Amino acid sequence: MVDTFPVRGVSTAVGFRPLVVESAFVAVAARTDLAFQQCIDPACRATFSVDEVLTACPSCGNLLDVEYDWDRLRPPTSFEFFERKWMRRSDPLAFSGVWRFHELLPFAPRESVVTIGEGQTQCPPSDGVANYVGVNAGRLFLQYEGLNPSGSFKDNGMSAGARRAACASTGNTSASLAVYCAVTRLMKAIIFIGSGKISYGKLSQALDYGALTIQIAGDFDDAMARVKEVSGKMGIYLVNSVNPFRLEGQKTIMLRVLESLGWEVPDWIVVPGGNLGNSSAFGKAFAELRKLGLIDRVPRLAIINAAGANTLYELYHRRGLRWDGGRADLAPACHYYDELDRDQKRAHTIASAIEINRPVNLNKCLRALEVCDGVVREVSEQEILDAKAQVGAGGLGCEPASAASVAGARQLVAEGVIGRDERVVCILTGHQLKDPTATVAYHTTDQKLFDEVLGSRGVSRANFANRAVSVGNRLDEIVQAIDLYS
Ligand code: F0G
Repeated sequence: MVDTFPVRGVSTAVGFRPLVVESAFVAVAARTDLAFQQCIDPACRATFSVDEVLTACPSCGNLLDVEYDWDRLRPPTSFEFFERKWMRRSDPLAFSGVWRFHELLPFAPRESVVTIGEGQTQCPPSDGVANYVGVNAGRLFLQYEGLNPSGSFKDNGMSAGARRAACASTGNTSASLAVYCAVTRLMKAIIFIGSGKISYGKLSQALDYGALTIQIAGDFDDAMARVKEVSGKMGIYLVNSVNPFRLEGQKTIMLRVLESLGWEVPDWIVVPGGNLGNSSAFGKAFAELRKLGLIDRVPRLAIINAAGANTLYELYHRRGLRWDGGRADLAPACHYYDELDRDQKRAHTIASAIEINRPVNLNKCLRALEVCDGVVREVSEQEILDAKAQVGAGGLGCEPASAASVAGARQLVAEGVIGRDERVVCILTGHQLKDPTATVAYHTTDQKLFDEVLGSRGVSRANFANRAVSVGNRLDEIVQAIDLYS
């Protein structure tokens, strides 16, 4: 079996497409390319070359997918093909947790992709978290994306290659883009962040890796709108998850989950929802795997919003918005966004990574919810922080946004939606060190710090706090404290 594909165009890492912008955006009815971009709207279905730099369909404005002519590409018919790559780990592309699945995202030739060792992540069971969530021992797994080079799942889809690349970010996209730019030296990273909205762990990465950091007076939703405007105007390559190539890389998170479970499909995937790129990518991955005959069923998908940034929950759960085979009536979304403007309502959560009110991948996410018979829930700040402490106590520390998945799973078990014996995978999207402020404030003995960081957000208690013990600088006091507390 060959593992290269003669796909047109040149590319580097997953999200990157070369800047070939001169072509008119002409849709053709039937493409002969092995990989191409296609509008997700069934009523439009316009297609475009993978060489075109697009973040929306030029015909109708909807989102784009990367699609493949699978009949001609003939991808592997069994997962064993990928397992065999483990024996070739000295080949960086076989080592990469993204590119070892190249045959399932074959939009670029092998020789033109870049890797910095992303995707070396794992999905161990956690009985401590299982107990907290309420499922039986051995049934809960944590897909730990904090192990990526930049400390979050973003590396699965990040890019390198154009002269300048930009993103708006709540922190992790910018850290990931900055790392790829710094390592490959192929382009300059330009990042847009909202003021005071990004945790120090993430900001420090962007600054350290040399990204041009533009802090705008506004929040993520403002930064997102501006970066689209600016990148269009200045011809800068945009790497937010409206870039369909990025989501191709994020599909591999699900491939690694399956790999960890011996290629068995779990019952549930539980993921935090922010800009809704992950959930969209996961739905696409499972739809494709089923179509290719690599799996015979898809897991159910639970997407968890923070209650202070709950657009998807509001629209899907409360206002009945559905993909409906692609015929979604988006009027409820438009009304909701008008209401947000009218009431000047801003996203507000300690889970700053998902502090987003206008998720750019909403439509694709609705499709994923349909494919995976999904559910959407919202969780409070208290639930997020308690769940985070439980994850940390098990040794795989995560940032607040990631813990929303565990808090959501717990809620769904309490409701009886997730059965106690079902196999559940919670996605831990980012590393614990991304946001030390939230962690320290939770465990602190300093009431003022607690009130400032958490109390102000409605967190009343740190139910699982591990408080530092203060002692004098005296041997006997120290020995006494250790005897007392250990
Ligand atoms: N978890 C973490 C740690 C994130 O950084 C993000 C998104 C999400 C979850 C939400 O994922 O957008 O696929 O629903 N962070 C983006 C950023 C917005 O700019 O770093 P999603």
